[in-house]
Amino acid sequence: MKYEALFEPITIGDVTLKNRIAMAPMNMTYSGPNGYLCDQNIAWYATRAKGGFGLIITECIVINPHPWRGSEEVNPALFTDYRFSRYLSKLVNVIHSYDKTRIFIQLSPGWGRQGHPNVETPHISSAAPSAVPMRIDIRNLNKGWEKQVRRVTPEIFAATGLESLEPIRKMSDREYEELELAILGILQKEAPALAQVLQAETPRELRVEEIIDLEDRMATQAEAAFRLGFDGVEIHSPHGYLIHQFLSPRMNRRTDEYGGSPENRARFLLNIIRKIRTKIGPDKALGARFSGDELMPGGMTHDEAKKFVAMAVAAGISYVNISQGCYENPGAFAPDGEGEFTQYAPGFKKAGGVPVITPGFITPECAHEAVKEKKTDIISLGRQAIADPYWPAKVEAERAKDIVKCTRCNFCYMNLFEPRWLGCQVNPTAGFELFYPELWLRGSANEKRVKKYMDKAKGLI
Ligand SMILES: Cc1cc2nc3c(=O)[nH]c(=O)nc-3n(C[C@H](O)[C@H](O)[C@H](O)COP(=O)(O)O)c2cc1C
Repeated sequence: MKYEALFEPITIGDVTLKNRIAMAPMNMTYSGPNGYLCDQNIAWYATRAKGGFGLIITECIVINPHPWRGSEEVNPALFTDYRFSRYLSKLVNVIHSYDKTRIFIQLSPGWGRQGHPNVETPHISSAAPSAVPMRIDIRNLNKGWEKQVRRVTPEIFAATGLESLEPIRKMSDREYEELELAILGILQKEAPALAQVLQAETPRELRVEEIIDLEDRMATQAEAAFRLGFDGVEIHSPHGYLIHQFLSPRMNRRTDEYGGSPENRARFLLNIIRKIRTKIGPDKALGARFSGDELMPGGMTHDEAKKFVAMAVAAGISYVNISQGCYENPGAFAPDGEGEFTQYAPGFKKAGGVPVITPGFITPECAHEAVKEKKTDIISLGRQAIADPYWPAKVEAERAKDIVKCTRCNFCYMNLFEPRWLGCQVNPTAGFELFYPELWLRGSANEKRVKKYMDKAKGLI
C-alpha cells in the first residue's frame, strides 16, 4: 500500500488505534446555547468515523460551571454535571458502532481571559490566573495569518488602505494606538464579536480555592467521561486558554504557589493530571494539548513548553497533542500552509517519550512522510477533515486524487467568532450532515441492526 505507515495500528494507554489518522478537536458551534450537543454534532462526528478516522478527538468541552467559562460566539459544549451525560454517551455509542473507531473527549477548565461575560450575566467578568487583559497587537501576527485575514475579511484591509501589514509592523506604539482605535471602530460596526477578541476586558484574578475547585471538577468530569464510554481524555491546555494562561509567564503574574517558577506555573495542570489519574488508574489514555510555542514576546517558548511536557508525562499523561500560539497571535493555530506544527514534534517526543499527535496536514504525501520518518506518531486533520471527511478512506483506497482539498480560506475558523452556523466553502454538506444519512449510516453497526429490524416488517410497510 502506498501510504502504509499511516495505517499501522498504535497504542495509547490501554487503547489501540486502527491507524495513525486522528481528527483534530474542532468546536463547530453546533451545540445549543445551553451547552448541550445536538443530533447535528453526532451526525458530524459519525460522518468522520465513517470516513475512516482511527481516532476522533471531540471539540473542547467545558467543565466550568461559572458564567465566565467561555465566549458566547464559540458556544462551548458543556459537561459541567450529569445533565450533559445523555448526549455524550449517545455520541460514544454512535462512534463505537463504526469499525474500531475510538473517541477521546477534550476537556477544558475554561477560557479565562480569552472568554468574556455571558450574555445573561454581563456584570460577571471572566477570571484568569492574573488580571492581565488580552489585547491583540497586529504587529505580532504571523505572516500566514496576514494572508488569511486578507482573504476572509478584505474590508479590514480596504479600510486601512494598506497593501500589507509590513508598515504596521514598523509602527511606533503611539502610531499603532491610533490605528487600533480606527480598526476597533470598524469592527464594532461590522463584527462586534471580533472587536471583543481584539481587546478583551480585564479578568479578575482567580482565588486559590477556585483554582482547586476547577482541578477537582476536571478530575470528576474526566472520570465521568470514561464511565460514559469515552476511550480517552485530552486536557485542553493550548492556545492561550485557561491552563495555558497559568503556564505562560506573560499571562501569569501570580506570586503564590501557582505563579513564578515553571514548577509553580505548571501546578494547575499537574494537579489536574494527578487528580484525574488518582480517579481513573494508571492505564487509561490521558493526554494534554500544548502550544509548541506561544509565539508572543515574553510568552512561553518552545524550550519551556518542552519542560512542561516532561513534567506532564511524569505526572501521568500518556500522549501529547501539539498546536501553537494563543489568541494574541491567533492565526498561528490555524496556519496557512501544511506541516508547520511538525517542527515541535521531535522536541516534544524527546521531552515526553510518549506518542505525539501533530495536526496541520492536507496531502497524504506530507502526512505519510511525517509518520514514516518518525517525526510524529499520529497525524491529525483539522480543517482538512471539514473539507473532506473521507480523507482516510480515500487515502487507504489509493484514491488520493479524489480528495477535496481544504483551501485554507478559513471560513470555518472566522465563523467561530461570529454567532453563525459553521460550514465549509468546499464541502457543501459540512454543517448539514444530519440531513444526509447517506453520509454516515452505511457501514455502521446501526445500519445492519436497522436492516435486520426492517426485514421483519418486509411487505407490510
Ligand atoms: C473551526 C475550528 C475550531 C477549533 N476548535 C478547537 C478546539 O475546540 N480545541 C482545540 O484544541 N483546537 C481547536 N482548533 C484547532 C485545530 O484543532 C487545529 O489545531 C487547527 O485547525 C490546525 O490544524 P489544521 O491545519 O489541520 O486545521 C479549531 C480549529 C478550527 C478551524
